[in-house]
Amino acid sequence: MKLFVDTGRVEEVRKAAEWGILDGVTTNPSLIAQAGRGFKETVLEICSILPHGSISAEVVGTTVEDILREGREIASWSPNIVVKVPMTPAGIAATRQLTREGIRVNMTLVFSPTQALLAAKAGATYISVFVGRVDDVSSEGMRTIEDAVQLVANYGFDSEVLVASIRHPMHVVEAARLGAHIATMPFKVFEQLFQHPLTDIGLKRFLDDWNKAGLRIFE
Ligand code: G3P
Repeated sequence: MKLFVDTGRVEEVRKAAEWGILDGVTTNPSLIAQAGRGFKETVLEICSILPHGSISAEVVGTTVEDILREGREIASWSPNIVVKVPMTPAGIAATRQLTREGIRVNMTLVFSPTQALLAAKAGATYISVFVGRVDDVSSEGMRTIEDAVQLVANYGFDSEVLVASIRHPMHVVEAARLGAHIATMPFKVFEQLFQHPLTDIGLKRFLDDWNKAGLRIFE
């Protein structure tokens, strides 16, 4: 499973990159706005922090023409950029053309199996299924993940299912159980993946016993 951090804050990307297991970053217009800096400068700094990672940056155009124009511009900023395009009829048409031009697309705001199917048909590199927002309206977001993973496998689509809108570590666990390709999550959730109280207790006990015995590694 590839692990991405979902943020527009470069300091969070820098910290997560230090762990050595970060495969990419997803941004969206709201995350960029919350970070309070310019779009291009933010994306380029993230690309420089993770030069071999996959960095998703989103268009804001809603017509085929605007999505194409913005997508080509954003893609030109760095080779590791994947252009985020919304799951709309114009987004699908633009995705077909962008992929024909060799520009990778992350189709975003996907909430249903039919939307996932259309995104795969359009050649999207990633299909961002928003699990948390479906849960937020008392439905089972993970079922859409399950359907998306299944349809991609059934027909051998090249697309990867990217689990987005993750709210807690159990979303990551369930996504992994279903064989989803990528999980993108807030930095806070990423930090939670490391944590378990029994690890803390066990490490303390090891160190206390070692120190009590007056042992050393370097003689
Ligand atoms: O960035 C895409 C997605 O992960 C955002 O979802 O629900 O956390 O705004 P949400």
